Amino acid sequence: MLRQALLSVSRNTKIKDAATSFPPTRAVVARYIAGDTAEQALVVTRQLTAAGLSVSLDHLGEDTTDSAQGGVATDAYVDLLGRLAEARLSQQAEVSVKLSAVGQLVGEHGRELALANARKICLAAGTAGTTVTLDMEDHTTTDSTLEILTELRRDFPSTGAVIQAYLHRSEADCRDLAVAGSRVRLCKGAYDEPASVAFADPAEIDKAYVRCLKILMQGDGYPMVATHDPRLIPIARDLAERNRRSPDSYEFQMLHGVRPTEQQRLANSGQRMRVYLPFGVDWYGYLVRRMAERPANLALFLRSLVRRG
Ligand code: FDA
Repeated sequence: MLRQALLSVSRNTKIKDAATSFPPTRAVVARYIAGDTAEQALVVTRQLTAAGLSVSLDHLGEDTTDSAQGGVATDAYVDLLGRLAEARLSQQAEVSVKLSAVGQLVGEHGRELALANARKICLAAGTAGTTVTLDMEDHTTTDSTLEILTELRRDFPSTGAVIQAYLHRSEADCRDLAVAGSRVRLCKGAYDEPASVAFADPAEIDKAYVRCLKILMQGDGYPMVATHDPRLIPIARDLAERNRRSPDSYEFQMLHGVRPTEQQRLANSGQRMRVYLPFGVDWYGYLVRRMAERPANLALFLRSLVRRG
């Protein structure tokens, strides 16, 4: 119930405006977000890569309905990729892109606009020597996102996809994507979805995650195991072993600020570990989804608002 209520406010613009004009204390935002600027994101990227972790940088923003804004977000990624190359970080750091931030929802030509902007980002990533992963948003965008992925992969075969285990369709999508050269991030799913398309029961979602993971680990692609769940991590390692996968044929991924000790432990044990690192000023939707994942976070968030008040 609480999760649903929170997720439904994540897209309410009135609540967003109120919450962001009265921001929570820096500490709550800073736990999950590298900073407002690309420079700040690069500082954190340097720290993480020095500790043996890889990074996927997310320039915060989503649900853009204005094509100019989609262009601004695209330029921010192109600029970031140039900086990554200049700082010699592009071997260890890639970017994650939400298609709704680069135009997917802009009128009837949104799909074409998002594809054109995503192409620019993929081209810049190729020049920098790194990769792009397309984040997955709510289920109304899944088909369009996977279609754009297919188009992008013709010219940029390393473009990665995200599959959300909670969607009923995801085992079939995993089968389609478990092919050579295909990078697939498997996560549980972070949006408020109707029962007609997604599992809601946490135990059902976990079982679906394992079913999807089995398909990806058995396949020929590159699975990216995006979870903090202490039960799923050993299952992933076991499946990798059973499928005779070497440690460089898959990776773990976690969000910046969530289980950092476990991130380091996995990296130190020889596993590939990538941290999803968001930056930018448009943090509201991202932060609300993190609150929804863990009620204790909400208490912290509310306490910080009260203290500030
Ligand atoms: P679960 O929610 O069961 O959490 C397991 C444990 O992890 C918790 O008990 C807690 O200890 C810790 N934990 C989890 N979330 C926490 C939080 N916010 N704060 C503190 N502790 C927390 N989703 C999506 O729909 N589209 C996408 O593109 C992505 N991309 C993505 C990339 C990466 C790298 C990750 C790790 C996750 C995503 N997600 C996502 C989010 C994902 O769908 C999911 O909501 C979260 O990862 C939480 O699910 P867990 O698998 O961690 O399990």
